[in-house]
Amino acid sequence: MVTTVLADLERIWTEPAAPVCRVGVDIANGWELEIMSRYAGTKAVVTGGTHGMGRAIVDALLDGGAEVVLTGRSETTVEKARTDLAARRAHVVRSDAASMADIAALGALVEDTLGAVDAVFVNHGIAEVDHVLEAVTEESYDRQFAVNAKGAFFTVQRLAPLVRDGGAFVLTTVANDLIFPGMSVYSGSKEALRSFGQVFAAEFLPRRIRVNAVAPGFIKTPTMGVAGMSDAERAAFEEQGSAMTPLQRMGTVEEVAAAALFLAFDATFTTGVELAVDGGWAQGIPAATS
Ligand SMILES: NC(=O)c1ccc[n+]([C@@H]2O[C@H](COP(=O)([O-])OP(=O)(O)OC[C@H]3O[C@@H](n4cnc5c(N)ncnc54)[C@H](OP(=O)(O)O)[C@@H]3O)[C@@H](O)[C@H]2O)c1
Repeated sequence: MVTTVLADLERIWTEPAAPVCRVGVDIANGWELEIMSRYAGTKAVVTGGTHGMGRAIVDALLDGGAEVVLTGRSETTVEKARTDLAARRAHVVRSDAASMADIAALGALVEDTLGAVDAVFVNHGIAEVDHVLEAVTEESYDRQFAVNAKGAFFTVQRLAPLVRDGGAFVLTTVANDLIFPGMSVYSGSKEALRSFGQVFAAEFLPRRIRVNAVAPGFIKTPTMGVAGMSDAERAAFEEQGSAMTPLQRMGTVEEVAAAALFLAFDATFTTGVELAVDGGWAQGIPAATS
């Protein structure tokens, strides 16, 4: 019985792309199951990995034994992540996804540091609430498209040659089948990313590289993904998000990370999908009334 369970565990955790699990049994001290390093030997890149969902993806990868390059744009948060992760197999890089020069430099650094990569999480993103159409400025429009759409597109272009055949990209879009007033530019930029992902999935078929997207609903992160909100605005946004979500709460960064890692490593027969992690928000499920 125990042998069967161990054999099953060995099979389940070693079937994905890379050898990722070792099971040890110490008969003298009773049955002892040691599950080491779910992602041992794997290498990954996480853009926007300094805080929020990206950081949860980074932490799960590192806990599982992966080596990770992660990026952020702000010097302060990059420095903090460097301090937090000093003892881990993490390389924290300041890299602005809106800068072609930074994307090129990131590619060179990943090549030098990791060589071939198993998974790339294109998670970075910014959102600005413009409130009404008339308030949208050209600068706000350009900023959001530069980071969320153009930056993600050219990150994939630069890193694709480094992803080993059979590897994976996971993009972070948004559960935007529903309409959120005041966020037209953000929604459009993420919809562009969703489209890029589907075309990339087709284009990478010859290399068996899967491209999927994780689409969060309302997730509790330091910024809620929205730039420049005051504490009061964030509290109101959180309350509204919980009320609009059928599961009647915000999601956690760990819940998003679990879905992203599933798409990268476990969903080996899945490509071109957008997996909603939204408590039912975009699924047409009415929110509970009591
Ligand atoms: N929170 C939500 O409810 C929600 C819902 C749906 C989708 N999303 C999406 O999920 C992703 C993560 O959101 P989050 O809430 O975890 O956000 P977050 O806590 O604000 O983290 C965003 C990450 O992206 C990085 N970033 C921002 N601009 C960048 C740039 N120009 N170049 C490189 N990195 C940049 C940030 O780096 P620094 O701050 O260190 O510079 C940070 O590491 C985003 O794509 C967001 O649009 C969020």
